[in-house]
Amino acid sequence: MDSTILQDIKQRYTIVGNCDALNRALDVALQVAPTDLSVLIIGESGVGKEVIPRIIHDSSIRKRAKYFAINCGSIPEGTIDSELFGHEKGSFTGAVGESVGYFGAADKGTLFLDEVGELPLATQARLLRVLETGEYIRVGGTDVRKTDVRIIAATNVNLTRAISEGRFREDLYYRLNTIPIQIPPLRERGNDIILLFRLFAMLIAKQLRMERIQLTDEAKDILLEYKWPGNVRQLKNITEQISVISQERIITPEILRQFIPEDEESHSLTRISTGNHSYESEREMLYKMLFDMKTSLSDMHRQMRGMQDRLEVIQRTGQVAASHNTLSAQNTDADYAEEI
Ligand SMILES: Nc1ncnc2c1ncn2[C@@H]1O[C@H](COP(=O)(O)OP(=O)(O)OP(=O)(O)O)[C@@H](O)[C@H]1O
Ligand SMILES: [Mg+2]
Repeated sequence: MDSTILQDIKQRYTIVGNCDALNRALDVALQVAPTDLSVLIIGESGVGKEVIPRIIHDSSIRKRAKYFAINCGSIPEGTIDSELFGHEKGSFTGAVGESVGYFGAADKGTLFLDEVGELPLATQARLLRVLETGEYIRVGGTDVRKTDVRIIAATNVNLTRAISEGRFREDLYYRLNTIPIQIPPLRERGNDIILLFRLFAMLIAKQLRMERIQLTDEAKDILLEYKWPGNVRQLKNITEQISVISQERIITPEILRQFIPEDEESHSLTRISTGNHSYESEREMLYKMLFDMKTSLSDMHRQMRGMQDRLEVIQRTGQVAASHNTLSAQNTDADYAEEI
C-alpha cells in the first residue's frame, strides 16, 4: 500500500504509530474495505481496535449507509436478541411497539459487533444464520426478513479457548474470522510508545491550555521497557494524569515512577505459587505485595488530594494549572502535524 495513503488515514483518524505490525493492520483494513468480507479484529484490551471498523466502513461502498457500533458485552442477555434482530409488538412484557433491531436498521450498511465473545449461545445461532443467508426473524415473530449488512467483529479474549470451553460456536468463529486483523500490543511497538506519549501530552495540554510535558531520555527508556498491560488506553491515562498532577513539565524517571505501576509480573501471584521456594520467601513476597499496595494507596490519596487542590483552582480561576505557563490558544493543528 502506498505509504501516503496510510499517512492520510492516520492523520484523518488521529492514529499515531509507525511500527510494521500497526501498518500491516491498517493496510489489511484498507484492502478488505471494498469487499463485503467479514472481518474479525483481534487484540488485547486498549490496543485501539475500535477505530478499525470505522475506517473499513468509511472506505467501503457502504460509506453513505448506516454504521452502528454495538458493545455485545454491555447488553443484558434478556434483551440482546431483540436489540439485534428487533421484536414484534407485544412479544414480551414492555414490547409496546415493534422494533426493527440493528439488523433491520443497518440494512445496506455496517454493523460493528464489539466484544463478540460475550454473545450468548442462542444469539450466536441467530447471528450465524443471518451471516450465512442474510435472513433473520424478529423476536416474537414468524416472518423471515432479509437484510444486507456487513459484519465486523472485535474481541480481546481468546476465542479459540472460548470454543474449547463450549462458550463460543466454532462455525460462527470461522464465519466471522474470514479476514483476521491483529492489532499489536503496545509493548511490541517500540518507539511508537514515545510518539503516542507526545500525542496524548499535546492533546491534554491543548485541552487544558497548559504547557506540554516532555520526557527526559532516561524517562523514555522507562516507557519503552514497561509492559503496558492496559496498552494505549493505559498510556493515555498515565500521560493525562502526569500532565494534570505533576508540578514539573520535564518528566524524569523519578516522577514517572510515581505514576507507572510496577510491572504485573512483579506482583503476580502465579509466580509465588510456582517454582522452588520456602514458606518464608512466600511470606516475604506477600508482605512486599501488601507493602506495595499500601504505598500505592497512599500515593493515590496524595494524588487525589493534588487533584482536589487543582479542581479548586479551576473553580476559582476558570483555568487549570495556573502555576504552569499557560499556552495561548494559538497551539494549532499545524503543531500537531509537526509534532507527530
Ligand atoms: N495508534 C493510536 N493512536 C492514537 N490513539 C490511539 C491509538 N490506539 C489506541 N488509541 C486510543 O487508545 C484508547 C483505547 O483504544 P480502543 O478503545 O480502541 O481500545 P480497544 O482495543 O477497543 O480496547 P477494549 O478491548 O478494551 O475495548 C482510545 O482512546 C483510542 O483513541
Ligand atoms: Mg473496545
